[in-house]
Amino acid sequence: MNDGIKVEDLTEDQARKELARLATEIKLADAAYYVEDDPHLTDADYDALRKRNLAIEAAFPHLKRSDSPSDSVGSVVKDGYGKIEHGVPMLSLDNAFSDEDVEDFADRVRRFLGLSETEPVIITAEPKIDGLSLSLTYENGVLQKAATRGDGRVGEDVTANAQTLEDVPDRLAGTGWPKKIEIRGEVYINSADFAALNAAEEAAGRKTYMNPRNAAAGGLRQKDPAITAQRPLRFFAYAWGGLSGPFAETQSEAVQALANWGFETNDLFKAHPDVAGLLTAYRDMIERRAGLGYDIDGVVYKVDRLDWQARLGFVSRAPRWAIAHKFPAEKAITTLEAIDIQVGRTGSLTPVARLTPITVGGVVVSNATLHNEEEIERLDVRVGDQVEIQRAGDVIPQVLRVVDPDRAGRSAPFEMPHVCPECGSEAVREIDDKGKEDVRRRCTGGLICPAQVVERLKHFVSRKALDIDGLGAKQIELFYERGLVQAPQHIFQLEQRIADAGLEPLATWEGFGEVSASKLLGAIDDKRNAPFGRFLNGLGIRHVGQTTSDLFSRTFVKWDEFWRTVEAARDTPDGPEEQALTSIDGIGGAAVGALKTFASEPQNQDMMTDLMQEMTILDGEAPASESPVSGKTVVFTGTLEAMTRDEAKARATSLGAKVSGSVSGRTDILVAGPGAGSKLKKAQDLGVTVMTEAEWIDLISGL
Ligand code: IVH
Repeated sequence: MNDGIKVEDLTEDQARKELARLATEIKLADAAYYVEDDPHLTDADYDALRKRNLAIEAAFPHLKRSDSPSDSVGSVVKDGYGKIEHGVPMLSLDNAFSDEDVEDFADRVRRFLGLSETEPVIITAEPKIDGLSLSLTYENGVLQKAATRGDGRVGEDVTANAQTLEDVPDRLAGTGWPKKIEIRGEVYINSADFAALNAAEEAAGRKTYMNPRNAAAGGLRQKDPAITAQRPLRFFAYAWGGLSGPFAETQSEAVQALANWGFETNDLFKAHPDVAGLLTAYRDMIERRAGLGYDIDGVVYKVDRLDWQARLGFVSRAPRWAIAHKFPAEKAITTLEAIDIQVGRTGSLTPVARLTPITVGGVVVSNATLHNEEEIERLDVRVGDQVEIQRAGDVIPQVLRVVDPDRAGRSAPFEMPHVCPECGSEAVREIDDKGKEDVRRRCTGGLICPAQVVERLKHFVSRKALDIDGLGAKQIELFYERGLVQAPQHIFQLEQRIADAGLEPLATWEGFGEVSASKLLGAIDDKRNAPFGRFLNGLGIRHVGQTTSDLFSRTFVKWDEFWRTVEAARDTPDGPEEQALTSIDGIGGAAVGALKTFASEPQNQDMMTDLMQEMTILDGEAPASESPVSGKTVVFTGTLEAMTRDEAKARATSLGAKVSGSVSGRTDILVAGPGAGSKLKKAQDLGVTVMTEAEWIDLISGL
């Protein structure tokens, strides 16, 4: 994960690229974690990304991006909920992974406050609950609103749902609460309740939850509060946000106050006079962890004195006065029974370790990921080996090492198949333009691979490709399941295939009726004549997306000529046809390579023959040479108001412009809408012509 070039060895250019990559990766990981409740990175890998990002920013402060992940704590607000702006942002915590990290934390606090070695610094320790945080606003002691963390600044309004939780009082008990206060804590589910919930989900034929945290998140974000009410959601209060006035002098007093007001607080919360006390508490919690009855993933330490907390303040996304000491990932040893290959939606082949089931940290593990063939080689893992596995957080367990690599009589090294186990097509490791080999092997079957076919069929009919009205994801899935549409050509044979299968006509199907059935069949018929660019994009060939497809369409104009060239390039590597393809400005070797591979696959050849009997590909539009933008490289950024981004791109391309996603010295025009950020700045720095959307429309109108 963190295997890039060492931060101190990065050139400025590499650092800039690395920051861009990290921003994207962290954003994706955040979205998977916070929005989809389906994390794809281990906590350690995620933290490593954030750490690397911070380290690069520290070394190259001027390269810090306007959308730097170090300025954000979580992901965006999920659609469909009202939004609530937090009075005080909901922050995250920095992590400590070792005893030294904890000592460093205490030293930093001391240094920052200018305290002498002998001055006692009391720090509290409490479990880090593995749930999701919730902020509850009380006014005059009455619950007003409840919000999830969201992006830290704005969260989702879950007031009606939160009100159904037994641990969330409608009115504060006792006395001494500020007139207005945001109480913060963690929503979670007990292990026993989680097991019962999943058993009930399973009995009802519904999908089970992966872990208590996902179940808690799902429960709190129900559209219907009545359903939330049936979920066994609990709440521990441990912090606060905005306040109309102070209510305590120390963290310990504050937590006591929360308990007096009617909240559940954690029994294991305790103040310690020194780091040794914290580390003892940490080890004690590891011991108790399995018996607590709820999931925890570390210990949180907080400086006890609130005046010190106020002085220490925050650095970007986390307070200086607190830190989370993470538990080590849990490990176990078991037998590798087999290595299976899984084919993902995009065709990537992932080796999966099938293990003799074993309990790791309370969860039965029978599969682990082996990532890719390089990883298998690195581990030298073979069927029959005893392997050490690790489970960290919610993510898929990993194989760490072979316990006895020198054992006699081991089986032969595993060989990654070079054909796709699902469809028999060749599976290749791509070489990028810089000659670097992809670590993943991918199936080249595309539309003929059952593992990929449904997603690809959806793409074929999607708005950016054939754009068939009334034929969306739902219909594709339905026709696929009934065996009616398994390849794109089948779409044009739908009526006949329904009859051949002995099924009732579409008009009699549930959800169709005369009108919509005839509309759908009519819409399909209409698209028998498809524009070159859309058709090529619809084939879903790797590296041949919309922009590349449009470029081919404008260059070749005639589909037949284009396809003949591709076939010739396939048959005569490095011949004149291949050169004709690669010499097109804006076409990379990866696209040409992918086209050749696609055209080499016999099943794809059959598909193309069949499709050509059903369809006519319309000529592409040659670039209008008189257009003032023809041959120019245009970049769109910010929000466009008069047209969608897709529409703007399509229009620019049809006028002979090349649309690019990033600003460089080769950019001719930047069209900047509201909210334009770093691209605009870069364009200005480079002296690129910048225009508003209105100016752009003016320029191209009448063309
Ligand atoms: S204190 C300003 N205490 O951990 C920091 N957080 O990684 C306030 N969490 O967003 C957080 N248990 O969702 C705090 N005892 C605890 C916690 C805890 C779990 C979560 C919380 C926070 C995340 C930070």
